[in-house]
Amino acid sequence: MMKKLKVANIPGDGVGNEVVPAANKVLKTISDIHGGLTFDFTDFPYGCDYYLKHDAMMPADGLDRLTDFDAIFLGAIGNKALVPDHISLWGLLIKIRREFEQVINLRPAKVMNGVKSPLATPKDFDITIVRENSEGEYSSVGGRIFRDEDEIAIQNSIFSRKGSERAIRFGFELASKRNKHVTSATKSNGIVYSMPFWDEIFTGVAKDYKDIQIDSQHIDALSAFFVTHPEKFDVIVASNLFGDILSDLGAAIMGSVGIAPSANINVNGKYPSMFEPVHGSAPDIAGKGIANPIGQIWTAKMMLDHFGEEEIGRTLLEVIEDVTGDGFLTPDIGGKHATDEVTDEIIARLKKK
Ligand code: NAD
Ligand code: IPM
Ligand code: MN
Repeated sequence: MMKKLKVANIPGDGVGNEVVPAANKVLKTISDIHGGLTFDFTDFPYGCDYYLKHDAMMPADGLDRLTDFDAIFLGAIGNKALVPDHISLWGLLIKIRREFEQVINLRPAKVMNGVKSPLATPKDFDITIVRENSEGEYSSVGGRIFRDEDEIAIQNSIFSRKGSERAIRFGFELASKRNKHVTSATKSNGIVYSMPFWDEIFTGVAKDYKDIQIDSQHIDALSAFFVTHPEKFDVIVASNLFGDILSDLGAAIMGSVGIAPSANINVNGKYPSMFEPVHGSAPDIAGKGIANPIGQIWTAKMMLDHFGEEEIGRTLLEVIEDVTGDGFLTPDIGGKHATDEVTDEIIARLKKK
């Protein structure tokens, strides 16, 4: 049966404009080969340049324009030389995550063939971080009052039973299909309300999954274990901020944030999910043609998995690892190859599969 997926591209800022077209080319190749699967891409120019022209990160009806797509494929948002980060991100990326109820953020990190980890004795790790993606430390509840030396900033964390349980349960379900181990990222020794609450919910959910081993680690110790013993982890469940930080660390031990993928999942089917790499707009290398396209291409694999195309997804990841294994590497992972060269090599090998 023919499957046609309507995908909204938001390349965004900086290297997003280099890696999204690269991953689109890969997806087009997949549809040429596969036959039964096609992608209908529509580009949306939302980002910081758009803001300068329109005084908004997207039009007032921007979400309505995106809602009928099967998925959103986003590069990166942010150019703080033009727009303060909290304005650009809350006006687009976080707005979409929130309004489209993309309550789970999945972020895998694993040893990649041919990519050198900075760890002295690289371990064979394969981790998936399940990040709570709708609340927690990222809340718009708070404010600033008074001026000068009397000024006060209040930033509230919001932890709902529903939101925490949803993310934790998602982690247990995922672990049931993986290595049956879930680690909870906590900080209940220092954060006295939200984190003991999170711990209680974790312990409660765990009772429904007797065959799954559990572990709870404070975020400080857990960060250190990511460096010393990453092979001990399978699924990690984490609040919004802890999941954010751990996912850059997971990317770093893989070898570069340029290769790490992520998926913002809408679990109730009301809105599209959004697929974006872990990295940002990388202003330091934008425009040079050397951005690593693998984070975005692996993100495309997560999109394929989401649409039930796991077999093609698996093939794509195998091809990526064949390419890195044979030394087609961008500078961030120690190579000399350009974005296009790595992308073209992935495409050439996909055609031979
Ligand atoms: P960043 O991820 O953009 O960059 C961190 C480092 O990683 C830089 O040295 C960069 O060159 C490198 N890097 C990132 N992507 C790469 C790639 N594909 N290939 C090779 N190297 C890569 O993080 P930052 O510097 O903290 O943020 C820059 C901007 O991006 C900020 O405006 C930030 O708010 C935004 N940001 C956006 C997202 C998103 O849209 N999802 C995520 C993170 C940061
Ligand atoms: C990410 C990013 C975003 C986040 C920022 C840019 C708001 O760091 O996707 O990891 O913190 O979620
Ligand atoms: Mn991040």
